[in-house]
Amino acid sequence: MKFIKAKDYQEMSRKAANILGAQIVLKPDCVLGLATGSTPIGTYECLVEGYKKGDLDFSKVTSVNLDEYRGLQHDNDQSYYYFMNYHLFSKVNIDLANTYVPDGSIEDAQEACSKYDEIVRATGGVDIQLLGLGHNGHIGFNEPADAFAKGTHCVDLSESTIEANARFFASKEDVPTQAYTMGIQTIMSAKKILLVVNGASKAEAVEKSFFGEIRPEVPASILQLHPDVTIVGDEEAFARIADRI
Ligand code: GLP
Repeated sequence: MKFIKAKDYQEMSRKAANILGAQIVLKPDCVLGLATGSTPIGTYECLVEGYKKGDLDFSKVTSVNLDEYRGLQHDNDQSYYYFMNYHLFSKVNIDLANTYVPDGSIEDAQEACSKYDEIVRATGGVDIQLLGLGHNGHIGFNEPADAFAKGTHCVDLSESTIEANARFFASKEDVPTQAYTMGIQTIMSAKKILLVVNGASKAEAVEKSFFGEIRPEVPASILQLHPDVTIVGDEEAFARIADRI
């Protein structure tokens, strides 16, 4: 695992965007695995800047997102589909037909999940997967569990995740209680993983995930087994591991 230290959120975002940008330059028709949450917003802003400067061309890029709330339609401004359009897709020259987010509007969970697994398979594989990190060590919406889930599945969101994400909704009661998420096996099959993390509230999750035991109760800990993981974090997020990286 490679740890890249950044002094603050801006620097973390720039460094992460440089890594994703390099992937696009080296392989213009690459498959990007993308993430939502507040952490990658700055990374997307830097990618948009790179596009505006003429350094990045998204026209041949395909993207697959990690997860989506079950029950939210695409036009719901809290959906991850909406998030991706707002923060990235509408601001660069990516072909929308080549962007994929699990479809939260499909009620039948099995149908929604198998359809998405097929989509990911058909892309030929993710070249680089961007990830954030939940306070309880979740990645995508893979919550702490008894076992690592394989493919796309429907999850019940944990109380702490609902609370953390309530800030984006009018009230906690409005936060959907379920989501469709890529599984751990799918995430682990990406050729490269890039995880971004910032803030003191994530320091414990960082330590448990990358220096603790590998176990499904801390889903991100499985990343210790991936051959090509880069973690870009700010000083606060790395506070508990600073002497080990
Ligand atoms: C959400 C998302 C994750 C994200 C995590 C952390 O639940 N499903 O993909 O990494 O929470 O979010 P944030 O970056 O806002 O702390």
